[in-house]
Amino acid sequence: MLQGPFFIPMKRFSLLIILLAVLSCRKENTADNSLSPAYPDYFPAPVYQFNNNTVNKDRFELGKKLFFDPVLSLDSTISCAKCHAQVHAFADHNVSLSAGINGLLGTRNSPSITNMIWSPTFMWDGGVNHIEVFSVAPITNHVEMGESMLSVIRKLNNITAYRTAFKKAYNIDEITDQAMLRALTAYMSMIISAGSKYDEYRQGKTSLSASELDGLNLFRQKCAGCHSEPLFTDYSYKNNGLDSVFNDLGRETITTNSNDRGKFKVPSLRNVELTYPYMHDGRFWSLREVLDHYSNGIVISPSLDASLQHSIPMTIQEKERIIEFLKTLTDWNLVSDQMFNK
Ligand code: HEC
Ligand code: HEC
Repeated sequence: MLQGPFFIPMKRFSLLIILLAVLSCRKENTADNSLSPAYPDYFPAPVYQFNNNTVNKDRFELGKKLFFDPVLSLDSTISCAKCHAQVHAFADHNVSLSAGINGLLGTRNSPSITNMIWSPTFMWDGGVNHIEVFSVAPITNHVEMGESMLSVIRKLNNITAYRTAFKKAYNIDEITDQAMLRALTAYMSMIISAGSKYDEYRQGKTSLSASELDGLNLFRQKCAGCHSEPLFTDYSYKNNGLDSVFNDLGRETITTNSNDRGKFKVPSLRNVELTYPYMHDGRFWSLREVLDHYSNGIVISPSLDASLQHSIPMTIQEKERIIEFLKTLTDWNLVSDQMFNK
């Protein structure tokens, strides 16, 4: 009989202890500066080695601040986030070519910048080979941000909040371009897309519908030769038959080898549902148009990939199934994760 009244307070007491333990853990976590990129075991090892730039919360937060700050552009109007928007999986909003400073248009479509730590090269033509130096390109590009590194660093050094943040993150009193580039890299390193339905399927947490599975199998037969799993690109340069006369020489711009004419970096198809329009010049607005291109629109030219010489025959139903599968690559967690917001 006595057990009841004793039992209840005991239970409450232990609940209180658990609650206190949880609260103190949370407190500990906020003080803890550690933060590291996490990815599933079927992903390869990242290419980026984080040498002298281990990610932590201070560095990530500083990189985020820079990523959203138009101070990096000549007239303080354009930030990285303007062309790489989280809601579009860090690609541009609904435009073939992005507008930079003074409304000037670039010549290429802004790609999604998820999973960059696996990319051995950057840009559609692979013109940059290290993520840490990458940001020099948009900052100094005359139509994108139109700034000089010297001037950006001078501006940042005049902002007390940045001085404090760089001191905390990199223990420096004077902001340097290297530290700024590393901070941007720390932010980008965390933009990992590995939370799609496809990933849950790979981890045995969910199943794909019959038509999604059908689409996956068709994709493996017809597309995975270049868009290989699990990152949905093999990072090679290919001519996928868009043109025979090239406004943009693609990879040839970098190698000066005419065999590379019209070859572009195979883009990842993760989040492809959100990253329209498609291709290096944003010429296609829907996935259906992309699939129609592969089945009926391949243009023959000397550097066309051998696997596309006879196009990729697909029925209407097969195209629909492939599109259904491609939509399982959308990572709704990533595009809504508050951690990446300002
Ligand atoms: C005016 C629009 C614009 C702005 C601003 C911009 N970008 Fe980009 N970004 C692009 C375009 C366009 C490309 C493709 C360039 C090319 O291939 O020539 C690109 C490519 C990239 C890539 C390479 C992606 C890949 O898969 O190769 C990264 C990384 C990137 N941008 C990061 C940034 C960062 C960091 C900033 C800010 C410092 C920034 N961008 C500012 C439009 C922009
Ligand atoms: C021979 C290699 C190759 C094969 C096979 C291939 N692709 Fe591509 N794909 C590319 C290249 C290269 C690009 C970028 C071309 C460009 O922009 O100039 C691309 C671009 C795309 C894009 C645009 C992505 C973006 O972000 O702009 C989509 C979507 C796409 N491919 C889907 C597919 C599908 C679906 C299949 C199978 C039916 C397929 N691809 C087969 C090489 C290939």
